Amino acid sequence: MLMHHLTIQQISTAQPAIAQAPGLHVAIISDGNGRWATSRGLPRSAGHRAGAESARRVIQAAPRLGIHTLTLFALSSANWKRPAAEVNAILRLLHEYLFTETTHCIDEGVRLSLIGRRDRLPATLRQAIADSEAATAKGTRLHLRLAVDYSAREAIYHAACRFYKVTELSPESFSNVLAEVHRGGSTEVDLLIRTGGEQRLSDFLLWECAFAEFVFLQKRWPDFTAADLEAAVREFGQRERTRGALPDAIAG
Ligand code: IPE
Ligand code: MG
Repeated sequence: MLMHHLTIQQISTAQPAIAQAPGLHVAIISDGNGRWATSRGLPRSAGHRAGAESARRVIQAAPRLGIHTLTLFALSSANWKRPAAEVNAILRLLHEYLFTETTHCIDEGVRLSLIGRRDRLPATLRQAIADSEAATAKGTRLHLRLAVDYSAREAIYHAACRFYKVTELSPESFSNVLAEVHRGGSTEVDLLIRTGGEQRLSDFLLWECAFAEFVFLQKRWPDFTAADLEAAVREFGQRERTRGALPDAIAG
């Protein structure tokens, strides 16, 4: 059984408050699908298909590792710069996932939400998303958030625009507006994992990662297993999270 240090630490009043998930919030930048496929002489779409399998494995393993919220970066707003065929293949995989996994999510107590823009998605996919969200809304074991056509900067910008209209200005109310923009809420990320060798945030959860611990792996996303997730959570458990305060050993 893994032990986590999940004490909710005092956040200084100078910092905007942000909701804290009851278990761990793990966010994953699942990078390396294309390279995985290319290195095997396969089309990039085969890498995305293998990546979707990886996502299934990780979603299955998450609750027993103490993960209560899992946010996966499925499609970045910047990914529209890719050839339409590749983006469409990713969107088709998402649609397929919703079609095959929604019942499974209900059975497993998984609540599914999408964060990101929806207006550029095909109408049939938008409908499938809304249906899956409604069907899984009662799930309490794991909150699975798929980031699709997502840009953290854009989300923060939209929240800032809406904030103009808020009469009671406070850090909490800004967080609430951001949560509205996200629909799927806005909770502090505890652990951010990025596969595929790059070490950058790529416009993912900029606000929520303010105090996140980062684990970067060379491994490409299709090769990522439940054991890798467990190892990352263990590594997280060994980090001392001070949020700017002194480490316990020094503070006494
Ligand atoms: C990550 O894999 C998946 C998405 C961005 C949708 P990539 O497609 O970025 O794979 P690489 O980085 O080209 O290997
Ligand atoms: Mg990439």
